[in-house]
Amino acid sequence: MNERPKVLVVYYTQTGQLKRIIDHVLAPLANSVDITYEELVPVQPFPFPWGKQQFYDTMPETVQDTPRGIRPLEVDLNAHFDLVLLAYQPWFLSPSQPTAAFLQSEAAARLLKGKQVITLLGSRNMWLNAQERVKGYLHRMGANLVGNIVLVDKSPNLVSLITILRWAFKGKKEATRFLPQAGVQENEIITSNRFAGPIATALETRKWQDLHPQLMSLDAVELLPNLVLLENNGISAFRFWAKFISAKGGPGAEARQGRVTMYRSLLLVGIFVLTPITLISSFIKLNLKRNELKREVDYYKGVTLR
Ligand SMILES: Cc1cc2nc3c(=O)[nH]c(=O)nc-3n(C[C@H](O)[C@H](O)[C@H](O)COP(=O)(O)O)c2cc1C
Repeated sequence: MNERPKVLVVYYTQTGQLKRIIDHVLAPLANSVDITYEELVPVQPFPFPWGKQQFYDTMPETVQDTPRGIRPLEVDLNAHFDLVLLAYQPWFLSPSQPTAAFLQSEAAARLLKGKQVITLLGSRNMWLNAQERVKGYLHRMGANLVGNIVLVDKSPNLVSLITILRWAFKGKKEATRFLPQAGVQENEIITSNRFAGPIATALETRKWQDLHPQLMSLDAVELLPNLVLLENNGISAFRFWAKFISAKGGPGAEARQGRVTMYRSLLLVGIFVLTPITLISSFIKLNLKRNELKREVDYYKGVTLR
């Protein structure tokens, strides 16, 4: 009798949203695949709900890739896995700190070298730069990124921003009279079980190069052109602020709180001003430089690293 394929799932989740997504994606495989879960646990937990200042104070080290550490993994680093599902969320246009800590670890280098990896994201809607960074880590470790699945909150950008901040700061996810529920829409989560079919096929045929195109035919990654422009503007600003804030001290340092507060106020103004501007400029760019922007969108939807 053939052995069942072995899948390792590495993930971190604060609210449980990402674990629910993982469970729905993998549910159809429960009886045909051996699944091992490795939950990443920060040495000192990140709070939920967040204090406002603490939330923004987490930006510099997230953007600069100097994350808080995680506890040692429980999985046997020498165990065989046919596939690794790396499930993560973007924080400040970067991989969340526990994800970055994992990707920088010796354990990840041993676990992921030569492995087939699918990335699975549960995000608001700004995940491109985070995924580029993850692609870079995987490439340097000699892992093979064979698929990407991205679940986003499909509400308009400013609406999802308001609902996610309410969720993050007050722990309130539910809809109000004026606002929808925060996070990835329930229907998106439930229907993510459609991705199990192509994953099962790839585990059986080993034709890994066919996997991402098959996932794409099921709309595994959808991307609005204006978000490409918004993220490019955003990440430059974040890098500037990360350097400016961390020049005054490490996470939580008293001396940097004035700068954190400045960043906090300007960020929200920036997003509210930039969102409509980038919507207009992407409309113009879409007409004037249609091919260039389309190439960008196609690139970000794919699994190659340029
Ligand atoms: C500190 C922080 C920063 C975040 N930054 C982003 C971001 O840059 N882009 C994005 O799409 N979502 C962002 N989110 C939303 C998360 O990606 C994620 O969807 C949400 O936190 C729920 O994830 P969970 O599975 O950890 O509960 C951020 C969340 C937190 C807590």
